[in-house]
Amino acid sequence: MTKKNLKQLLRYLRINSIIIIVVSYTFFTFYFSENTLATVSGDCDACHKLFPGLLDETLHGELVSTNVLCINCHSSDGKDTVKIIGRSRVPVVFNEVKPENPLAGGNFFYVAEFSGDRKGHNVDGIASMDSKFKGAPPGYYRDFDPSIPGYNTEKPLNCAGSNGCHGNRNIKNPYDAIKGAHHAVDKPVDGTTTARSYRFLKNTDEIKGVVGFEDADWGRNSTSDKHNEYSPSIDVLCASCHGKFHLRDKDGKKSPWFRHPVGIVLPETGEYARYNPDISPPDGMPGVRIYNPDAPVGRQKVLKAPGEEVKLGEDMVICISCHIAHSSPYESILRWDYDNIYAHEEGKGGCLICHTGK
Ligand code: HEC
Ligand code: HEC
Ligand code: HEC
Ligand code: HEC
Ligand code: HEC
Repeated sequence: MTKKNLKQLLRYLRINSIIIIVVSYTFFTFYFSENTLATVSGDCDACHKLFPGLLDETLHGELVSTNVLCINCHSSDGKDTVKIIGRSRVPVVFNEVKPENPLAGGNFFYVAEFSGDRKGHNVDGIASMDSKFKGAPPGYYRDFDPSIPGYNTEKPLNCAGSNGCHGNRNIKNPYDAIKGAHHAVDKPVDGTTTARSYRFLKNTDEIKGVVGFEDADWGRNSTSDKHNEYSPSIDVLCASCHGKFHLRDKDGKKSPWFRHPVGIVLPETGEYARYNPDISPPDGMPGVRIYNPDAPVGRQKVLKAPGEEVKLGEDMVICISCHIAHSSPYESILRWDYDNIYAHEEGKGGCLICHTGK
């Protein structure tokens, strides 16, 4: 189309505003249709009438923080962890009642509970400031935080933005930090943009975001052959706010042995050779164990589909091998009840999924 033609078309469209609406609606429905790889699609009003603040930024001033926008849509007063708005499935990360089948990132229900402080990230709008950590990320180390603003301990923890985990951490405002991501093409998950980072975990626009394989149900009802796939890149994100967990000693480089090794491979020998002792792999496959979504490992090379196998000597211990990202029923956001882990029989879970001989 030449410039002249385009001008004519535009003039024609301007005369007939109804056509504009029809044309743009068709365009949007087509552009955002499920045939494309866009995340969110369809009936615009379903979300944009319900949450006018998403498009009308003058309403942002009325919110204490635009973080509330995220929470309103991603929560539920029932127990389901996926809800439907219009034709979209919304992953629910905050249920007001005990969630049934929490998503892989866990559920803020637990931190919002009475005395739930230590069971999750105290995100603004869900839980008040953590009474132990007073809003400062434990182990924060400025040198490991790639964001320009850095973490502001005077401000609360948010879903997104420089004081949050999702979106671009170089932008302070949670809404602005993620703007555009819900409608953008989100595949391949290569960490180049927020939409193309695993679960919008971009960290900052200057570095590569988190990569992984995204289960279509956000990890709900995971099994050994249907689950998210992680890579050690998620440790980099955690370390942005918890950098000291990656230090061998005060002046060490970046060896992650401060509390528990992360970013190291599961050894092929000793107790680790029986990772997930409850399920035996098929005969004739040395060095292979069966994946247990209750103690996930990170892949050095991201898989394109969920892998049922865990390769000893190759797959790695990551922060979320032991922790849940949002909130869990246990202190220190652990996957298991730490105090009772060793009371369990061998192979019944927790640390013992890896430490099979202890
Ligand atoms: C399932 C809910 C949902 C539906 C349906 C939806 N949106 Fe959105 N939209 C959002 C959310 C959430 C945001 C803000 C966060 C973001 O931009 O990622 C947003 C942001 C936007 C923005 C601002 C972001 C930008 O890129 O500037 C525009 C424009 C927009 N939507 C247009 C539309 C249109 C047009 C439709 C219908 C084809 C539509 N939306 C349908 C949830 C939805
Ligand atoms: C109007 C409802 C709505 C609002 C408001 C909203 N979201 Fe979402 N969000 C959705 C829907 C629907 C999806 C699922 C998209 C899909 O199919 O992948 C989603 C997906 C996500 C995901 C997972 C992406 C993935 O890879 O699966 C993240 C992370 C997220 N939203 C964060 C946020 C944050 C942070 C905010 C606030 C700045 C926010 N959302 C505001 C509706 C909303
Ligand atoms: C944007 C900064 C930020 C990022 C990124 C971040 N956290 Fe945190 N984290 C915090 C803050 C602030 C606290 C202290 C307040 C609280 O508990 O909510 C905290 C607390 C914690 C705690 C202790 C909770 C308790 O109350 O005992 C654990 C465990 C934790 N984070 C693990 C992680 C893991 C694992 C990741 C990566 C998936 C991660 N964090 C990413 C900011 C962050
Ligand atoms: C093998 C299991 C395991 C791995 C892997 C692991 N942690 Fe932990 N983490 C724990 C346990 C157990 C605690 C509670 C220890 C305690 O109370 O002293 C804990 C506590 C924490 C705390 C709270 C600190 C406090 O003072 O209470 C933070 C923050 C944290 N971990 C972050 C991380 C980050 C970031 C990573 C990845 C770099 C990571 N963890 C990897 C098991 C693990
Ligand atoms: C995903 C597998 C995995 C899980 C889950 C796991 N560990 Fe480990 N752990 C390892 C590996 C691998 C090593 C390092 C072994 C080596 O290099 O010799 C290790 C080492 C250790 C060490 C020795 C640390 C050192 O500095 O030498 C302790 C103690 C330990 N783990 C405790 C725990 C506890 C407690 C838990 C549960 C909260 C736990 N582990 C969960 C894989 C795991």
